[in-house]
Amino acid sequence: MTLSDKRILIAVSGGIAAYKIHFLIRQFIKSGAEVQVIMTPDAENFVTKLSFSTLSKKPVYTEFYNENGTWNSHVELALWADAIIMAPCTANTLAKMTHGICDNLVIATYMSAKCPVFVAPAMDLDMYQHPSTQQNLELVEEYGHIIIPAENGELASGLVGQGRMAEPETIFQTVENYFGKPCTKSLEGKTVLITAGPTYEAIDPVRFIGNHSSGKMGYSLAEEAAERGAKVILVSGPSALQSKHENIDLHRVTSAKEMLAKVFEFYEAIDIGIASAAVADYAPKDIAVEKIKKNEDTFSIEMVKNPDILKTMGDQKKHQFLVGFALETQNEEENAKGKLKKKNLDMIVLNSLRDEGAGFKNDTNKIKIFTKTEKKEFSLKSKDDVAKDILDCVETQLLK
Ligand code: C5P
Repeated sequence: MTLSDKRILIAVSGGIAAYKIHFLIRQFIKSGAEVQVIMTPDAENFVTKLSFSTLSKKPVYTEFYNENGTWNSHVELALWADAIIMAPCTANTLAKMTHGICDNLVIATYMSAKCPVFVAPAMDLDMYQHPSTQQNLELVEEYGHIIIPAENGELASGLVGQGRMAEPETIFQTVENYFGKPCTKSLEGKTVLITAGPTYEAIDPVRFIGNHSSGKMGYSLAEEAAERGAKVILVSGPSALQSKHENIDLHRVTSAKEMLAKVFEFYEAIDIGIASAAVADYAPKDIAVEKIKKNEDTFSIEMVKNPDILKTMGDQKKHQFLVGFALETQNEEENAKGKLKKKNLDMIVLNSLRDEGAGFKNDTNKIKIFTKTEKKEFSLKSKDDVAKDILDCVETQLLK
């Protein structure tokens, strides 16, 4: 296991999210890591040393100690750690980190450390948005620390917004990914076809109808599948992204019709199909040969329905395992499950435009996965980590 030889120092400051650290400690201990907890004096108002030391199997420190007759416990702790996790990191602790206000064991240890530092802020939404917090977050990022952004949701104050500490699972995975999850070639021998990006539907030689899809989700899926040893066919609409992985065969297309044709060049031979492209539902009936001139005050274009690429794949499915995406704004779960059935899919990934940080253009995504019988919910993560979750689910289903 990646973390089995790692020493993880968790520095807890005084916020209500400190209760979640119990779960974080358990997860690190389960992964085989050694865990040392230190706390700011204020953190003791929220949680007890006893519960943390019971879980971590080590004494928990809030004060400088001198067990060996030395004064430098902070240096000792800092040198011991392979990683320091500041969680929850309050606005106060964050400010002390950026200004070197070294008035407690947590900050003294942090300032003595040479190892990677992970910062999981937690505070009320207005404190989180305050320019001082935002500037301090930028500063610690400049120091090379890894920020695990606060999540959106209900806060202890009763207000709703960004400020909740990331879930222990997210913090754990960020650290695990940093140290490099052992990569098993779990998709070796499989061919995976992925559609990605938007489609552009031409109006005339210079104009088109398109959408804001960046292609990030599809490219992350392609990278991850390739890392797992799969042969990947990536059929991408216009996207600024590149792919250099030797296992990825990238085919660039423009319109939905071109995407359909490209997909079906390979469809027979694939094992897994993942449709993450944001395909335009309609295309102009006729494409003007010359650039359309600006004449009338109003102008209309007759549109015709595009082929539904994924539904066509579903209709012709034999051995292929098919995954679709649903981006919904209302009756999300119902609509996603409806699509699973209508398009004859094995799995559907739902992302909601209601979740801040999810969907188009963002580097993060928040998903729920449905199969015919199961539902799984995930927290807000980077699209690279979301890709891992999706492929983990695909692999679990294939093993059934
Ligand atoms: O029906 P809807 O567009 O919401 O379905 C979304 C899913 O279907 C996505 O997986 C998308 O890639 C796929 N799709 C497709 N061809 C279309 C429309 C959607 O492959 N024309």
